[in-house]
Amino acid sequence: MQRERFSSRLGFILICAACAIGLGNVWRFPYITGLYGGGAFVLIYLVFLVLLGLPIMTMELAVGRGSQKSAASSFDTLEPPGTKWHNFRYLAIGGNYLLMMFYTTISGWMFAYFYKMITWQFKGLDPDGVAGVFGEMVSNPSYMTFWLVITIVLGLFIVSLGLNKGVERTTKYMMMALLVIMIGLVIRAVTLPGAKEGLLFYLKPDISKIKEAGIWEVVYAAMGQAFFTLSIGMGSIAIFGSYIGKDRRLTGEAISIITLDTFVALMAGLIIFPATSAFGVPVGQGPGLIFVTLPNVFINMSGGRIFGSLFFLFMSFAAFSTVLAVLENIVAFAMDLWNWSRKKAFLVNAPLLILLSLPTVLGFNLWESFAPLGPGTIVLDLEDFIVSNNILPIGGLIYVLFCTRSSGWGWENFLNEANTGNGIKFPRATYFYVKWVLPLIILVVFIAGYLEKFFL
Ligand code: ALA
Repeated sequence: MQRERFSSRLGFILICAACAIGLGNVWRFPYITGLYGGGAFVLIYLVFLVLLGLPIMTMELAVGRGSQKSAASSFDTLEPPGTKWHNFRYLAIGGNYLLMMFYTTISGWMFAYFYKMITWQFKGLDPDGVAGVFGEMVSNPSYMTFWLVITIVLGLFIVSLGLNKGVERTTKYMMMALLVIMIGLVIRAVTLPGAKEGLLFYLKPDISKIKEAGIWEVVYAAMGQAFFTLSIGMGSIAIFGSYIGKDRRLTGEAISIITLDTFVALMAGLIIFPATSAFGVPVGQGPGLIFVTLPNVFINMSGGRIFGSLFFLFMSFAAFSTVLAVLENIVAFAMDLWNWSRKKAFLVNAPLLILLSLPTVLGFNLWESFAPLGPGTIVLDLEDFIVSNNILPIGGLIYVLFCTRSSGWGWENFLNEANTGNGIKFPRATYFYVKWVLPLIILVVFIAGYLEKFFL
């Protein structure tokens, strides 16, 4: 069967950007930045994007384009006979499923909050009342399951319509709308009187917070965030390389995707922090940041209902576009491995994913006492930790080794693929860095981060 193709380069870039841009940018990035000392953390994170993110994303796209397959079978196609690289498929498939197991819950929250905003259920609430709305939501498993089911079923339905008619078309509209809404919200937020303090909190390095957490934990978190935000290390970007032609070099495409992703992350912070300081709302930290803190801002702001609705629409688009991209992977795995149709993959995966997502939902309420990573942590923290701080860095390492070792696909094959077409070349001179230094960075940060998190 002829493999489907994107109908335009813009479609390809926007889908990769949509896969990258998501909760990691608009929800995880601002709260982790608040937690680990603002500007200093942002700098470390940006360094990781360039040092790790760019080469690994280029490699993923190259493996995808070179093999014309999803991560479920791309290594089988490219590896030298008799080698075992293809076992990576289990990590890749596991990673994509695990990501969806918690991602769809938070995406469901975004839809729920958009609905609450547009119907203005926050009218007249004081801060306790606003916190109560969030508390009520997370203590109610059926309510969360309702929104989660909508997210999964709608997502898989769109994917089942096909690459062009489903994912590409929907994503293009969502991403365009996301960028427009975001720019409007940034302008509104930074021009509020009192925005400056929030900007300072966001951008001024606070070394004391880094010391408090421990430098290795901060660096480890920044690396995890870089992998998470770009969706690299588990083949979810690679697949989009398998849907494009050979007319563009891949490094340039990766730069466009990473630039868009970084732009949205930085802008999300520019919306959230100035808005909180302008209304004297304390900047909450942790996952509740946007759900507990921001509604207070919208309640006090003139036109708050409109801005609040737009804000959560922006959040919903960011989250849902990633859901679509990862579900495209999940459906493609079944198509590549067993020749399933899109429809069959939809019918099997919808109930499966709903079931697999329930532990996250229950972790907030009935299973709250289960604290897998220490006091105060829940199922979601464990899943996020396994994906962001384990599967993605290890998967990233595997891509790097595969593309630079002669026992794998090898440097020349990788360079040939990455540098076919027009645009920016992957520099041959980076060989030593990519082959030796890059794996070492991942390993050192990985091991040191583990030691600091669990043993120091
Ligand atoms: N890259 C995706 C995000 O940032 C997973 O949300």
